[in-house]
Amino acid sequence: MSAAVSPQLELRGVTKRFGGVAAVDGVSFEVAKGDIVGIIGPNGAGKTTLLNCISGTQRLDRGDIRLNGSSIAGISPHRVAKLGIGRTFQIVKPFGSMTVRENAAIGALFGSAQARRGVAGAFALADEVLELVGLRAKADHPVSALTIPDRKRLEVARAVATRPQLLLLDEVMAGLNNVEVDDALDMVRAVHATGVTVLLIEHVMRVIVGVCRRAIVLDFGHVLAQGEPEVVLRDERVIQAYLGERYAKRLKS
Ligand SMILES: Nc1ncnc2c1ncn2[C@@H]1O[C@H](COP(=O)(O)OP(=O)(O)O)[C@@H](O)[C@H]1O
Ligand SMILES: [Mg+2]
Repeated sequence: MSAAVSPQLELRGVTKRFGGVAAVDGVSFEVAKGDIVGIIGPNGAGKTTLLNCISGTQRLDRGDIRLNGSSIAGISPHRVAKLGIGRTFQIVKPFGSMTVRENAAIGALFGSAQARRGVAGAFALADEVLELVGLRAKADHPVSALTIPDRKRLEVARAVATRPQLLLLDEVMAGLNNVEVDDALDMVRAVHATGVTVLLIEHVMRVIVGVCRRAIVLDFGHVLAQGEPEVVLRDERVIQAYLGERYAKRLKS
């Protein structure tokens, strides 16, 4: 009998309700170690809620989430981080009066077992991560002085500084212009190249096609389609539920 290798992340029938409404409804998929997977779908499809369930900030009502074969469903966000799942938040909330470097160091202090111990170690790791995301030159700037794209970079830096094996990114490229998106793509590639698995939510199709090996489309809390980005984006159901609406919006603006 050959031993089956567990996927790094495995979701089975994950369901999360708010009142009577299932924001996430029976979602199942797997993410292999080293993969880059994109989650797309209309606003309100349940993307952020799904990430919240994985990172432990919201408790699932049904189903299971496994990391390297062991269930992490219902455990605290702090313990999920310790196990090696790092995340960003859609609404960026840095500590404004602190410097960029101090903010990144906080990630290092509250990270996985792989993050460095002690304040000196945390600052050393913060510097490495700021280099990786292209913020090294602004390490001593107060966060309040950062531009939007730089705040997004810092948010990624904080998550990467926790030394995750799996990184969850929630719309880190929203509101960026084309040049900024290209820079952010390079940043995601650089982080991925360090051996981190990436699961990202993104509305920008160029991002999904540009870096993701697989795309998962959520609609009304369900998985509508999943597979190679080029194939998924040509799927008639995906065009109707999601892309059609977005392309129509673009034509109007
Ligand atoms: N804390 C909450 N309380 C009640 N309803 C919520 C909460 N968070 C999300 N929802 C609802 O769940 C659905 C999915 O939301 P969300 O996961 O934020 O979608 P997405 O990230 O895909 O835009 C939406 O209908 C939203 O209004
Ligand atoms: Mg969201």
